[in-house]
Amino acid sequence: MPDSLQATRRLGADEVEVLLPADRLRARVGEIGREITRDYAGKPVVLVGVLKGALVFLADLMRSIDLPVSLDFVGLSSYVGTQTSGSIELTADLTRPIEGKHVILVEDIVDTGLTMQWLLGRLAERRPASLAVCALLVKPSRARVQVPVRYQGFEIADEFVVGYGLDHEGRLRNLPFVGVVRG
Ligand code: IMP
Repeated sequence: MPDSLQATRRLGADEVEVLLPADRLRARVGEIGREITRDYAGKPVVLVGVLKGALVFLADLMRSIDLPVSLDFVGLSSYVGTQTSGSIELTADLTRPIEGKHVILVEDIVDTGLTMQWLLGRLAERRPASLAVCALLVKPSRARVQVPVRYQGFEIADEFVVGYGLDHEGRLRNLPFVGVVRG
């Protein structure tokens, strides 16, 4: 059965409803890659993945960008329903300076926006030539701050999603689709 027709999948104890099937993700990620390729036309870019959730998205995205690409990562203190950006911490820093570079921050999901706002502030201090945000998912109804998301995969409703890199308590990152845990 094509992935797009599969409404729910049972994974051990979890029933996960498919929200964005693998074929839709693939198509949209390809479009974003082509858009980035056009926008940066010939310029080298540094893709900075936010661990761990952006891993799968980043791996697919980088292969649809036809530019000289280098890769780095940042780790942030994990999401625990953070109400202010005061409790965010860098747990893993970039391995190379980004001064004078064109940087694209690649994130799995912008929820309240607090994490991205905080990270943009920290990275801007390092004087990149440009700094853009690319997020697979955005939940506009949850926004507490406005984050300038230049490349966006999908807008979704206020539901907790898993799969394609996103986790629920460390699990379900390996699902090839984005879904909602129903039971
Ligand atoms: P924000 O600071 O509220 O925008 O939260 C961003 C981070 O929270 C994301 O990078 C995710 O790690 C996590 N997060 C927010 N919503 C979800 C979700 O629906 N599923 C999984 N992780 C989420």
